[in-house]
Amino acid sequence: MPDTAELSNPLREGIRLRRTPDPCAMVIFGASGDLTERKLIPALFYLSRERMLPAGFSVIGCARTPSTHEEFRREMTDAVKKFLHLTTESDAFVDGFGKGLHYIADDFSDPKAYEQVRAILERLDQERGTAGNRLFYLATPPSFFPVIVKHLGAVGLAKPKVAGKTWTRIVIEKPFGRSLESAGELNRAVTSVFDENQIYRIDHYLGKETVQNLLVFRFANGIFEPFWNRRYIDHVQIAVAEELGVESRGAYYEEAGLLRDMIQNHVLQLLSLVAMEPPATFEGTAVRDEKAKVLRALRPIPLGRVQDFTVRGQYAEGYVGGGKVPAYRTEPKVSPASNTETYAAFKFFIDNWRWADVPFYLRSGKRLPRRVSEISIQFRRVPHLLFRGADGIEPNILSIRIQPNEGISLKFCAKLPGTTMQIRPVEMEFRYGESFGAVPPTAYETLLLDCMLGDATLFNRDDAVELSWELVDPILDRWKQDGAKGLAFYAAGSWGPAEADAFIERDGREWQRL
Ligand code: BG6
Repeated sequence: MPDTAELSNPLREGIRLRRTPDPCAMVIFGASGDLTERKLIPALFYLSRERMLPAGFSVIGCARTPSTHEEFRREMTDAVKKFLHLTTESDAFVDGFGKGLHYIADDFSDPKAYEQVRAILERLDQERGTAGNRLFYLATPPSFFPVIVKHLGAVGLAKPKVAGKTWTRIVIEKPFGRSLESAGELNRAVTSVFDENQIYRIDHYLGKETVQNLLVFRFANGIFEPFWNRRYIDHVQIAVAEELGVESRGAYYEEAGLLRDMIQNHVLQLLSLVAMEPPATFEGTAVRDEKAKVLRALRPIPLGRVQDFTVRGQYAEGYVGGGKVPAYRTEPKVSPASNTETYAAFKFFIDNWRWADVPFYLRSGKRLPRRVSEISIQFRRVPHLLFRGADGIEPNILSIRIQPNEGISLKFCAKLPGTTMQIRPVEMEFRYGESFGAVPPTAYETLLLDCMLGDATLFNRDDAVELSWELVDPILDRWKQDGAKGLAFYAAGSWGPAEADAFIERDGREWQRL
């Protein structure tokens, strides 16, 4: 967890160099939820502390829970102190930030709620100089997204207050739909009220510093791109492991499962950044066009062969971090007969000239031994073994560690010192923390700021969302039909089911150790 020292660290100089957004107000629907107190408000606090927010910036929290401006301010400033581990020295600053927070308790399905939102926005324009610029943030359960959008449109809040002079934008949290059909319906509902350039579909993985660095690594260095193709690369692995179980989110997770929760969005986004062609510019349309092309080129898994390309698992009881933890089926709000997957592994191919026949192995799971996300590029073996009798020759692996201990390492072979020709793999490492000496901004800081600045590069476009559902839908259908058949169990605290190891070993490969 970051501490106060991080508030003035050198990495933050980078964000300070950016333009400050226009004066604006942000309305958070679902302000009594976990996301608001854990991520959104702390991120806004950091931005405000870094003087990256415009003067008069105001937040209007909106939720059904009865509360007052004062109570909301107290809860949110307590959350900032708690989640950022701030000391009492920062109290004055936190309290100053709190003055910009407001609250409306109302029912999202009641049109009167939106009249209230409008009234308070108008008042803030006068009192705090928010200048008619509005950012709506949908952090509610997804079932409320269409109704909120509809009402915003009906009261005229979806259009800029003064055409051409002010802006209005909307951020929509994941999950964006739960199938191709529902994502399409949601896209239609949102685009019937907002223009595409007002819509920011957020995937917080895209705001992570190392994920952005992937583009810098690939396209700001001359030496990697020439090797980034089927000629040199044997396969790619993308792993997103979590130590946590479903915590208090059993009801949501029963509906979602790992494929919808992590793969359809975060992991496929990582894949598209690894595999995309160099965009013409680092600008929204160009980057998003290239990412969409990758998703379009991903070979759909044939319905009759889903079991050959996927593994799904669920955690049984086990030990994590030294403590015993329950099986998924005994978690709160989870059915004791649930077949929901908490682990999944996939093999995908990208049908284009760069990647033909190169497998992309993806895996993600809850209740694995630790939280780690990593992309590994495994290069082809040497074509000819020059050092006869020498063992220990392993392929080169480039590992991009997204979290924690963010960094990049390259494994290569070296001669063991001595009179015999023995070879061992060694690693060359770059660690963010060591090279830059500090913790980077959180994904939400980056993304909220981008949105206020009108930069949609790191947000998802409608075509990408629908393309990823197109890939995922047949797998979900097949798994649903199969029920318990094919669901593999793994002990909490292990690296997933044995079936997942067998899955990659069938191809003569193995999972990278994380
Ligand atoms: C969220 C998922 O989108 O990402 C969670 O809904 C998951 O289930 C989380 O725990 C992981 O995010 P991070 O940033 O902790 O890797």
